[in-house]
Amino acid sequence: MQALSPARHGSLTRRALPLAIALLLAAGPTLAQDYPSRPITIVVPAAAGGPTDTISRVTAQAMSKALGQQLLIENVAGAGGTIGTGRVVRATPDGYTLLIFHVGLATAATLYRQLPYDTKQAFAPVGLITDAPMTIVARSDFPPNTLGELVSYLKSHDKTSLGNAGLGSAAHLCGMLFMAETKIQLTTVPYRGTGPMMNDLLGKQIDMGCDQATNTTGPILGKLIKAYAVTTKSRLNTLPDVPTAEEAGLKGFELNIRHGLWAPKGTPPAIVQKLSAALKIALKEPDVIKRFSDISTTPVAENHATPEAAQNMLVSEIDRWAPIIKAAGQYAD
Ligand code: MLT
Repeated sequence: MQALSPARHGSLTRRALPLAIALLLAAGPTLAQDYPSRPITIVVPAAAGGPTDTISRVTAQAMSKALGQQLLIENVAGAGGTIGTGRVVRATPDGYTLLIFHVGLATAATLYRQLPYDTKQAFAPVGLITDAPMTIVARSDFPPNTLGELVSYLKSHDKTSLGNAGLGSAAHLCGMLFMAETKIQLTTVPYRGTGPMMNDLLGKQIDMGCDQATNTTGPILGKLIKAYAVTTKSRLNTLPDVPTAEEAGLKGFELNIRHGLWAPKGTPPAIVQKLSAALKIALKEPDVIKRFSDISTTPVAENHATPEAAQNMLVSEIDRWAPIIKAAGQYAD
């Protein structure tokens, strides 16, 4: 039998991959017994310090306890998350290279027409992790104080800058929906993640953002930025003074961002099951529940920390955003 020679970063040549997958699947149950026998890398396709990074680090720490092995975070930002995602899609499907990401996976499937993989088929999903609302925010000295005042102010100040994390990011989608709802065109400023975007908002280098509450709760409570609305049906316990977009006049403006854990396609089911079991344990950890609730998010229910729920989310989000992106005719390539 020809020995397999994993190339750089554990990725295999396109020709060798099917054989590797077949061998790994055959050896799956045995492999799963020893798995994990070395540190696992979780690729985060967004800049450090942002919401996806924060969710990933809390999850990785708790899962490493359940698995008895280190889970290391590697931030690989850029191109709407497709660089980091591509790294995982090409990785050896042995459970040692994983991905944590959100709706960005789904929007990229339509935005990037040259993607070298079919997003709906490219993963062995492990499970969903959290569900986070979005918030409409601005620099602390921005003149408007309510959403109503903001909309009228923006009508006469169209040079207002709105930060996001690149095409197809959660911040971009939220900003796009806000501009569509208010019929206002703002000047968008892309970043490699909303971590660096938040630094510029705190530094008053940009005017506004639409970002996950996991990233904005702290600065809002610290009065370091202004908040106009949250995109949930009801107010958040953590931010009782911030109205819902519905309350503030933006009817039907609801947006939640779900993060999931993904393995490359061909990862042995026994290993995926082990990861999903560890994820469920991690999401029940009191410390994890507390840290997530402090940043305005909650772990998903146990029956959502599953491969089926993650795949269903991915497919439904791809199908939801494809017509909107096609209608906008805005592609990334
Ligand atoms: C991040 O972690 O930077 C975000 O998830 C970016 C986004 O999609 O808005």
